[in-house]
Amino acid sequence: MNFPATRMRRLRRTEALRSLVRETHLHPGALINPMFLCPGEGVRKEIGSMPGVFNLSIDEAVKEAEACAALGLGGLLLFGLPAEKDEQASGAWAADGIVQQGLRALKRERGLDSLVVIADACLCEYTSHGHCGVVVCDGDHYEIENDASVALLAKTAVSLAQAGADIVAPSDMMDGRVEAVRAALDAAQCEDTPVLSYASKFASAFYGPFREAADSAPQFGDRRSYQMDGANLREAMREIEMDIAEGADMVLMKPAMPYLDVIHAARERYDVPLGAYQVSGEYSMLQAAFARGWLEPERAMMESLLSIRRAGADFIVTYFAKEAARVLG
Ligand code: PBG
Repeated sequence: MNFPATRMRRLRRTEALRSLVRETHLHPGALINPMFLCPGEGVRKEIGSMPGVFNLSIDEAVKEAEACAALGLGGLLLFGLPAEKDEQASGAWAADGIVQQGLRALKRERGLDSLVVIADACLCEYTSHGHCGVVVCDGDHYEIENDASVALLAKTAVSLAQAGADIVAPSDMMDGRVEAVRAALDAAQCEDTPVLSYASKFASAFYGPFREAADSAPQFGDRRSYQMDGANLREAMREIEMDIAEGADMVLMKPAMPYLDVIHAARERYDVPLGAYQVSGEYSMLQAAFARGWLEPERAMMESLLSIRRAGADFIVTYFAKEAARVLG
């Protein structure tokens, strides 16, 4: 328009200039590292579809947490692989469940105070059928029962908070669960435990590798009767609005890169702290391209994270957390 008076390239000439006018920044304190806790000792089992991500026994998870703290990460998000699964997901809410044990071990450790330890509250890793709620079958027909699931989730949240979780994060997408979780936490004297709600969670193909990592693939059917349809942005806004009204302190958007418009819309509309989850499939597809030499690992990783920040996320849950923190120095 105003060329040649205005030359946009003037401010791109050197790294010093580019740095001065950079609009969006990443920092390690806004990155959360997911971890998959499994039974045993000395277990460090790499996930086939997620290079660099492991199932960790609790002793190994403590070492990993120490590395995360040393890198200045903001926190951890814990998932569990229980020794046994059943229809009531008892491993999710058992006082000695795998994540509860992990939380106690992490909270015993000195030197980890800089990490916010978030416990994912869901049933899918603990149910024999792999759904995020209670399943009732009638012949060939099955339903995920909302209210019975909510009761178990509330129980799970309390158990996780009592074991030491700094934040509980319900990820199941049942209706009314934030209100039930909040009420149950308050009744158990955990009124200071914040709820991070996965308010905007789409039924996504990009969760595939996670289901290998957490051994949580549904044994029949899919999650489309509770997770959102990927076509719906307005519905996502309603989900967030309801969760905030029910008492969510912060909300998590997921997946991230295929839904940047949804993150942006949520940012414009809501003032609660907003996180985004760069999910397993987003990580795996980048790793697959790195392995083939098709993308430059460091640049592609940082660009993917920057796009999520620019869309409006305050913090990012990402399997690249440690690697990105190393790059950020
Ligand atoms: C549990 C849960 C899932 C993820 C986070 N919490 C799996 C799912 O909904 O199927 C996916 C995270 C990822 O893909 O990295 N319900």
